[in-house]
Amino acid sequence: MEKVNIAIIGTGPAGLTALKSLREQGFNAIAFERRDRIGGLWSYSGDPAFTSVIDGTVCNISKFVRLPIAESQEKDSPTYSTGQQVGEYFHSYAVHFKLLEHVWFQTTVKKVLRNSADDGWDVYITDTDGTRILPFHKVVFGSGNESIPSWPSLPGRDKFKGIVIHGQAYKSPEQVLGKRVLVVGMGNTGTDIATALCHRSRDHPGPLASKVYHSYRRGRLVISRYEDDGVPLDTKLNWPTMCLKYLLDAWAPWLMRPLIDKIMMRKMISDAARSEPELSPGETPSQRRKRAEHKVRHDWRLADFPSMSRRHPTANEHWFPAVQTGAITPVHGLQGFVGEHEALLDDGTVLEVDAVIICTGYQHFDFNMMPELEMDGADGPSVSTSGSIAAEREKTKNELDMENEGRQQQQEEKQPHLPRLYHLIFPPRWADSVAFLSCFAPQEAAWNVAELASMAVTQIWAADTAKKNTANTKEQTPPTLPDGYRKPATLPSVTEMNAQVDAYHNWWRGQWRQDRSMLPGFVQGNSFNRFLHGAAGTGLYEHIDHAFALGNWRLWWNDRALYTWLARGPINPCAYRLFETNPLGVPGCGRRSWGGARGAVKQLYEDAEEFKRNAARKSASKMK
Ligand SMILES: Cc1cc2nc3c(=O)[nH]c(=O)nc-3n(C[C@H](O)[C@H](O)[C@H](O)COP(=O)(O)OP(=O)(O)OC[C@H]3O[C@@H](n4cnc5c(N)ncnc54)[C@H](O)[C@@H]3O)c2cc1C
Ligand SMILES: NC(=O)c1ccc[n+]([C@@H]2O[C@H](COP(=O)([O-])OP(=O)(O)OC[C@H]3O[C@@H](n4cnc5c(N)ncnc54)[C@H](OP(=O)(O)O)[C@@H]3O)[C@@H](O)[C@H]2O)c1
Repeated sequence: MEKVNIAIIGTGPAGLTALKSLREQGFNAIAFERRDRIGGLWSYSGDPAFTSVIDGTVCNISKFVRLPIAESQEKDSPTYSTGQQVGEYFHSYAVHFKLLEHVWFQTTVKKVLRNSADDGWDVYITDTDGTRILPFHKVVFGSGNESIPSWPSLPGRDKFKGIVIHGQAYKSPEQVLGKRVLVVGMGNTGTDIATALCHRSRDHPGPLASKVYHSYRRGRLVISRYEDDGVPLDTKLNWPTMCLKYLLDAWAPWLMRPLIDKIMMRKMISDAARSEPELSPGETPSQRRKRAEHKVRHDWRLADFPSMSRRHPTANEHWFPAVQTGAITPVHGLQGFVGEHEALLDDGTVLEVDAVIICTGYQHFDFNMMPELEMDGADGPSVSTSGSIAAEREKTKNELDMENEGRQQQQEEKQPHLPRLYHLIFPPRWADSVAFLSCFAPQEAAWNVAELASMAVTQIWAADTAKKNTANTKEQTPPTLPDGYRKPATLPSVTEMNAQVDAYHNWWRGQWRQDRSMLPGFVQGNSFNRFLHGAAGTGLYEHIDHAFALGNWRLWWNDRALYTWLARGPINPCAYRLFETNPLGVPGCGRRSWGGARGAVKQLYEDAEEFKRNAARKSASKMK
């Protein structure tokens, strides 16, 4: 392959998997990382401007469903790793695949602009030597989507004399030790911080915070990572079930939305009931469950949660026990500040607090890095670029008074800006040279989907490069492929890609109009996964799909063992490497299989089954 230079921005899960996949294909890819280490937000940073895991972060992807690092599947590692362990895991991933030597550390990408010849990209980088412009053929954005904190309006902020920080800047309990703390926001960040502050430490006699209030303006689905029997939730979601769910989400959303929300509501109540104290001897589990349900619905106001079909749940099994014991006091939404230590809540309560930690999430993505990126269209604001939107915002800031700025913000809240990205990855106009890998919000483990998307981008660009090379080298004729051979992974025309973008925007805005909690980048599982697997050439859907698909029966007939592992086992990226879809190794026509994949899929299935048996044994002995 002719040397194709690719710049990758960021070395979190998205950037790292892209670096591995593109280099394996023969592209000359290098990654720029503004920090001094890889792993993205999974490696701790004490810098308040960088989002990172903190002491006590536990990931919500069990060890049964994560990326394989060849021989090590860490049989004895904890079911759900801590943030620090995930950081170490990504480090070993980078070491194993020899990626570190291709990373430029402490190098920030400031801007990416189309070059004057209109055949590549100028990447503006800043490092210790200053600012430079480097030319690249292609660019991959893996810069994360939790970088820019989202703040609520805080009337009376100037009156308040306590600490006010965003969850991004919260790094350790030392920052609020012994204080009365109000945590705002019921997402994973808010619950992680609220529960962490209830702990005691060896060096400190009482709980880390003297009082923990947790403020939220509406409900949220709070669920344990485990099922009642102690089994990780994600090991129970097998591939055929997810395929059927995604299909029905697309065909019968009117059925699926209430159904899934009802199932999840039941789970939340069961999870809450687990920590419900026994009030009298001989109380039945159903009595405890009823009490928990009342608390969930009324005392804690959680039932009014954003639908699972629009926003991810909060995964935390420590929140209910902490609320039950009074270590956390749930309170209404924060309205503003009314005194030096007084916070006013939506129900009129005035709370005395010393510190407020705002955990209201992040702006989904920083598109300013690529000012020429097209935004909006369809039934949203008319098509413009991220650069012109940023300039408009700047103008408002500089020229208009605060009141108008507030109005402008309200206007933007009425019509959020959406990037024009085919399947949330490719800008149609530049799909052969730009890919975004941090913009989609999948319903499966983010890392696994980032890796699959990296494979898809690699295949598409490999096919495109091979085609262009053939066209440029007149004497070389394209290889004749045998009949039925997998076709190269190509993208549709720009017009067709734009039509897909418009259809997605229409769908997203329709959801958003019904509920403002609609998560930017939330994927439509059926079309998104089929596109990714098709382009990546995994061959998975051809072999196993939802339970009614013909291919499933074929696999069941031909290879009963593999069928069992795939149909009943955890969804793991080892399965992406099972099928030989490109035996001749033609660029962009599929994947070569990995010799260890079958063994790994079997092992994961057996490990998960053993885990389930042990969990059943434990819960049976508890019942005795
Ligand atoms: C605390 C926390 C816990 C989470 N837990 C889970 C979980 O359990 N499961 C799950 O599926 N998802 C989880 N997420 C979601 C998270 O988005 C993904 O797990 C994943 O980290 C996303 O990977 P990424 O590579 O896109 O982004 P990141 O991990 O954010 O990495 C982006 C990288 O790009 C670098 N970068 C950014 N801008 C530039 C620039 N201009 N120049 C150079 N480098 C740059 C950053 O320094 C960083 O290293 C969590 C998020 C948070 C905040
Ligand atoms: N351990 C983990 O796995 C872990 C830990 C941390 C973060 N994460 C991930 O990181 C991402 C970000 O999580 P996050 O918890 O920071 O953000 P988030 O999931 O977006 O949650 C933000 C919360 O703040 C509330 N909120 C938003 N705007 C508000 C406003 N103006 N006023 C009052 N409340 C407001 C939202 O509730 P409303 O419904 O009222 O809008 C929501 O409860 C997520 O993908 C999350 O899964 C994972």
